[in-house]
Amino acid sequence: MIARELVVVPPIAEEVREGLLSVPKTLPAKLFYDERGSVLFEEITELPEYYLTRTELRILCERAGEISAAAGQVTVVELGAGTAAKSCTLLRPMAKRQLQVHYFPVDISPAALDEAVTRVESECPGTIVRPLVQDFSAGFSFLRKIPGRKLVIYLGSSIGNFEPAAAVEMLTQVRRELSSGDSLLLGTDLAKSPAILIPAYDDAQGVTAAFNKNMLIRLNRELDADFDPENFRHIARWNPRESRMEMHLESLCVQSATIGALRMQVDFDPLERIHTESSYKYTMESVYSLLDQAGYTKPETWTDGQGWFALHLARV
Ligand code: AVI
Repeated sequence: MIARELVVVPPIAEEVREGLLSVPKTLPAKLFYDERGSVLFEEITELPEYYLTRTELRILCERAGEISAAAGQVTVVELGAGTAAKSCTLLRPMAKRQLQVHYFPVDISPAALDEAVTRVESECPGTIVRPLVQDFSAGFSFLRKIPGRKLVIYLGSSIGNFEPAAAVEMLTQVRRELSSGDSLLLGTDLAKSPAILIPAYDDAQGVTAAFNKNMLIRLNRELDADFDPENFRHIARWNPRESRMEMHLESLCVQSATIGALRMQVDFDPLERIHTESSYKYTMESVYSLLDQAGYTKPETWTDGQGWFALHLARV
């Protein structure tokens, strides 16, 4: 009998191989969110240049009563809830209106959900929390099992990290699991001057640069690779044709890296880039078209005074 070597290849490995063999090279943005990446992302949301989180929270604070009245009597399901930092702003007025709100924070991270439960239970009296650990790549059929009329919330412009066709597909999948009368509250970042956008993705303290380079550190640890993050530069650029911010890692020299788990060598020319993330910035028309293609009604929209960010309530 021939003895075979059993090699356990981590699930992300094939996507990494495909991305690094493509021209130009890419890496999937979901690789950002290991333990360190999640901490760095939390830091990003507090940076002076990263206006998204603050602006969305301000709209929520100012408009929570109106949003809650428009949504009606509902069970709230938050996709990618994380630690539920923004959710209490909406849950508090809801709990006042309907005496008791059921809140289902959904996330891939059990640790984040533990924090969400503690936070909501202490900050939002009248809210019953039922955390759900879910990986959205397995679909959204869990929504069917949640009883009652639902408001699904998807905040932070996370939808902007999907390519346009994938964004339509994701929102369609969610809609198919909902029923007539259910609704979606979607947060979207809006297109604006590159003078505002670029610093938001290339901050003075270098937190976003560390977040971007952390992807290479993760490959070194999880796929037995030997990238030298010091030999790459963080790039943030505005792509007006696609209406998106892009993050890249640019090679500073001729270099090679090996990825042990893939038995692969990757060669870089100087200035060659790995595209690590796209963050789409919308116009009202482009959000309405996205929601329409995914089968939702034309939404009610709330925005901040500068028109930088928008929250949309669309019905199924
Ligand atoms: C999670 N997502 C909405 C963030 C964004 O703005 O696209 C991820 C991020 N990338 C760099 N900074 C923040």
